Amino acid sequence: MLSLKDICYHPSTANNPILHNLCLDLIPGRITLIRGSSGSGKTTLLEIISGLSDCQKGQIKWFDKTLNPKQRRWLCGLVFQFPERYFLGLSVGQELRLGHKKLSTTEQFTTLNKVGLQNIELKQPPESLSGGQQRRLAIAVQLIRKPKILLLDEPTAGLDWSVKNEVIELLSNLKGQQTILIVTHEPELFKEFNTDCYELSEGRLISHKKTKLQK
Ligand SMILES: Nc1ncnc2c1ncn2[C@@H]1O[C@H](COP(=O)(O)OP(=O)(O)OP(=O)(O)O)[C@@H](O)[C@H]1O
Ligand SMILES: [Mg+2]
Repeated sequence: MLSLKDICYHPSTANNPILHNLCLDLIPGRITLIRGSSGSGKTTLLEIISGLSDCQKGQIKWFDKTLNPKQRRWLCGLVFQFPERYFLGLSVGQELRLGHKKLSTTEQFTTLNKVGLQNIELKQPPESLSGGQQRRLAIAVQLIRKPKILLLDEPTAGLDWSVKNEVIELLSNLKGQQTILIVTHEPELFKEFNTDCYELSEGRLISHKKTKLQK
């Protein structure tokens, strides 16, 4: 289990703290949802969990072990908002092999299969994929690292309705196999997940309930 205890984040560039005494437990195999309006601190929280930033106060533990940012970078796979903007590979295969030169074709297809992209070709340029396929590829790129925690920043942002559903179906299929934290300002899309939902408001985690109960 990943446990955040009393996390405070106040970078010198901000007038006020961005996260206040935030506590959160991510249960293995479960999907946790954090909703919050723009500017509430969702992306900042993911950056801290994934080790891209460090907090001034508080602890992040993986079971009983306190983790430093470098250890968190190994533990977590972060899918940024609009991840398709950051593809570097000239082909799907190249994108999957970034940082994993020796990845076999079988391993590449096993991961593509996990995200429902078994019918695409490894030599296809990522930009030739549809919007939903690109989002799936971005998730595959993180899954290939076998992260203990998959973090998703606004996974449905900027997609058509049918494509949003594609992404939601994929995440629903990963339920039970992968520990996932989703931050979103569209929590209603995830109501069928019937999972733990917290609300981040001005850097404070103020409530939690099952998504299914929300309207
Ligand atoms: N390094 C920083 N220095 C100063 N202010 C910052 C810094 N990082 C984040 N902020 C501020 O902290 C607040 C939270 O930002 P954050 O990007 O985490 O919000 P968010 O909930 O992800 O918003 P959105 O839904 O628009 O993506 C914002 O007001 C932002 O301007
Ligand atoms: Mg954000």
